[in-house]
Amino acid sequence: MEKNRNISQSKKYKYMRLCLLYFLIFPTIISVGQSQTKKTETGKKISPYLFGLFFEDINYAADGGLYAELIQNRSFEYSPTDRTDWHSLSFWEYTTPRYSYGSLNVETSTPVHPNNPHYAVLNIEHVGEAGVGVKNHGFENIVIKQGDKYSFSMFARQLSSSPIAVTISLQTPKGKVVAESKINVNTKDWNKYTASLTASASNDSTSLVILATTKGKIALDVVSLFPEKTFLNRQNGLRADLAQLLADMKPSFIRFPGGCLTHGDGLGNMYRWKNTVGPIEQRVEQKNIWGYHQTAGLGYYEYFQFCEDIGAKPLPVLPAAVSCQNSGGTWRIGGTGQKALPMDEMQEYIQEVLDLIEWANGPATSTWGAKRAAAGHPQPFNLEFVGIGNEDKITPEFEARFKMIYDAVRAKHPEITIIGTSGPFSDGEDFDKGWTVASNSNVPMIDEHYYKEPKWFLSNLNRYDAYDRKKPGVYLGEYASWGNKLYNAIAEAAYMTGLERNGDIVRMASYAPLLAKKNHTQWNTDMIFFDNSKISLTPNYHVQKMFTTNQGDYYYDNVIAQNVKDTTLAASCVKDSKTGDIILKFVNNSNVAKSMKVNLSTFKNYMSSAAQIVLSGNANAENTLEHPQNIVPVYSTVNVNKVFDYPAPAMSLTVIRIKILSKKI
Ligand code: AHR
Repeated sequence: MEKNRNISQSKKYKYMRLCLLYFLIFPTIISVGQSQTKKTETGKKISPYLFGLFFEDINYAADGGLYAELIQNRSFEYSPTDRTDWHSLSFWEYTTPRYSYGSLNVETSTPVHPNNPHYAVLNIEHVGEAGVGVKNHGFENIVIKQGDKYSFSMFARQLSSSPIAVTISLQTPKGKVVAESKINVNTKDWNKYTASLTASASNDSTSLVILATTKGKIALDVVSLFPEKTFLNRQNGLRADLAQLLADMKPSFIRFPGGCLTHGDGLGNMYRWKNTVGPIEQRVEQKNIWGYHQTAGLGYYEYFQFCEDIGAKPLPVLPAAVSCQNSGGTWRIGGTGQKALPMDEMQEYIQEVLDLIEWANGPATSTWGAKRAAAGHPQPFNLEFVGIGNEDKITPEFEARFKMIYDAVRAKHPEITIIGTSGPFSDGEDFDKGWTVASNSNVPMIDEHYYKEPKWFLSNLNRYDAYDRKKPGVYLGEYASWGNKLYNAIAEAAYMTGLERNGDIVRMASYAPLLAKKNHTQWNTDMIFFDNSKISLTPNYHVQKMFTTNQGDYYYDNVIAQNVKDTTLAASCVKDSKTGDIILKFVNNSNVAKSMKVNLSTFKNYMSSAAQIVLSGNANAENTLEHPQNIVPVYSTVNVNKVFDYPAPAMSLTVIRIKILSKKI
């Protein structure tokens, strides 16, 4: 006993000597972001899913964006509900080249499917030299690459007695044919016709031209053109370059389909997942709350498949049976505001939520699992998280419906982590009420949203330090500082080190919005800007990627130190248990270089040569489609010692990734 006491006492003195030495070496420092109270522990487990992506069909992110379909209004379902000047033939042009004539109409009497009521009817009265037809300019023209193949398909039926020959081509604005194929429409019932088009030249402003060259009548619908080279060559797939960028981020999860798109502009516009699965010609198209149209071609199956393809957890967010409180433009004029599903429709709605879980996770023999299998995915998708509600106004109507859905899902699927919602702001009435609703029901996680000035982020680096660990965890589902300059991104980076430090309570976080198409943005601060052929990665994207590709599941609070009075610095140290790697992040949001002290003595057997990424530059610098390389990360290797000063460049985020040779630390 005596001997043991001596051993433990000598250990205690050794520890005290080490502590003394530590504070002698770093006289005015304490662990980054911590309060000045002495800490006894050196670290903690944090969420392995901290950094993921938020995808919403805003800014033409889906149709005309990530969804690789090249034809706009392919099913003739655009309508004045989308936009007052849109109609069934928007983005289509009736064409009668070289002395042909006939007529083009839209009909609804015998559609391909009741969900897809409109279709085009061509009456070819005089074929002339080239035929009678239609042209589609895509989403502001169709970009094609020489040698690439494009998959054309359309539903068609012959309405007159003889089969109708049809020429499909891609043409330049001057009418030069750069790809062509022929099909013969010879069915009296709707049938899917396909053709492959190979581009003989590159061109960024082609149109699809469909010319019927036999006298008679023909009906057309769901006219589609995809590059064969979609992401992973999937059918009905995603634009390869954009999808690859998202894949390269290695996000731990993807939230979809929104955002406000989820709860929709009025009850009839809520995003109902069942409308977005199955054959594309059977999906229900509708108005997009952001002022355009959604085909649902990128639907739940495609979202889940993409998540699986890139190793991200799917995080669908379903409406809490109430529509967006801004419905009908409530924020501008007297709109309809939040509307709630009538109580007598709630059981059916709850079943819809439960059916999603069966669709995603049920065996292929189950009713909904069978539909997933029929679509090409017999294995379950392993859904773990479901969000209920998107920044809804926390009214009694919301609360009642949220609780009904929550209770039903929890009872039937205790394995699913449900995420509640806390309104659109970082604080205030809805925020408080949302938290009360979630806390009272023991909801595992709650979704917070806020968009703020960079200064707000820098002044709130410690927001989550004081959060009650006994309350629900946080999913910071939408956040961004207002702007895409380097300063904005660095402010976000500093904030993200605070998320890592609080990764025991902040379990997930996603920057928003993700994608924005040039000339079609409804939200000005976005992560990735693009047009039909170019992409501009904002500094914010680079910051996000530096965090998403360098996530950890254990946080150390005794490795990086700084002068606590200097709020221009922030840092974090995490371990990725899968690789054993130790990851250091340093943020300096000032305009001069500053040092932070690092002490790696917690770790043994690490490689002194470490991978380093630095993002730095002028605070006001930003990337554009024309100048996408103004701010880019620089990759290198550095040597790290047991104790060293890291000189963080002015306005910078640095990530240093250290390999551990043996997993023992
Ligand atoms: O991210 C853009 C929008 O911001 C989302 O649709 C909404 O949830 C939030 O108000």
